[in-house]
Amino acid sequence: METGLDAIDSARHAGPEAGNDAGRHAGFTQLPDPSPDVFTAPLKRPAHVAADWIEPAQHAYGADENAVWDDLFARQMKVLPGRAASAFMAGLDKLDLGRGGVPDFGRLSAELGALTGWSVVPVPMLIPDHVFFWHLANRRFPAGNFIRSRENFDYIEEPDVFHDVFGHVPMLTDPTFADYMQAYGRAGWKAMRHNRLKALGALYWYTVEFGLVEEAGGLRAYGAGILSGPSEVVFALEAQSPNRIYLNVDRVMRTDYVIDDLQPTYFVIESLADLYHQTVERDFDRLYRGLGPGFTYANTAVIDIDNVHTRGTLEYHLRGGRASGARPV
Ligand SMILES: [Fe+2]
Repeated sequence: METGLDAIDSARHAGPEAGNDAGRHAGFTQLPDPSPDVFTAPLKRPAHVAADWIEPAQHAYGADENAVWDDLFARQMKVLPGRAASAFMAGLDKLDLGRGGVPDFGRLSAELGALTGWSVVPVPMLIPDHVFFWHLANRRFPAGNFIRSRENFDYIEEPDVFHDVFGHVPMLTDPTFADYMQAYGRAGWKAMRHNRLKALGALYWYTVEFGLVEEAGGLRAYGAGILSGPSEVVFALEAQSPNRIYLNVDRVMRTDYVIDDLQPTYFVIESLADLYHQTVERDFDRLYRGLGPGFTYANTAVIDIDNVHTRGTLEYHLRGGRASGARPV
């Protein structure tokens, strides 16, 4: 029986190693070719990258660009201590991401590889789902090969190297989270075949990008979407508006989300092991069969089955959110 995020149809989609998954570090050696009936976003691959979308070399960042990294780093360090998950803060430290300038991916990958077997590879832009999943399944994290300009210091349309490396990579130093991310990549294939990519996307959104975790000292953020910017971390943890609900995978995969404003609802895990148990050890085939093609719950909803940590006032969103200039209270 296939169970959990980790189970994939290895015969059809994976390289030779995947059918013989003796250890959790085994990966797909060959980039799978999605069948034509599987929807993938129509991204046009730039001519200079191969089918894996990896850049031939990391961008050579100039002094101005390195200064943008340093200033973004310094800004985050004013707000993250006491708010970011301890695994994240430990990861920043282990990888010494504040040593100055955009990290060199070769050195970063060597250091991360020694900890959890992950590496970081430069990609030109957002990459197709099946390529993204394949990299994760091979413990490679694709990171944007550019940094935002100073004019766009606060807002980016596509994830840049600061979001990707500062936001995501520290958590990959945690062995449990590292395994979750690899399992997520493998699960992508199954979701594509069941046409449930939206549902799996919601899980990514509410965990990897906007997840909160309960720690001895209180709630902390572990999601990269929260940790790579200065304002959402305060809103997510301290504002009265948002709902904070304990993670329930079935429920989260049915929940809509916003991509251009603060989240009305955050989902809380009790620990990284809790996240792993709830996902990697679940029967996702069964879950996918029970899901509709769209979302069932609005992103503001609190429903009967919810185990609520904090019920929010939703004031910020009721006042119209960012578009109305509402205060994030
Ligand atoms: Fe991200």
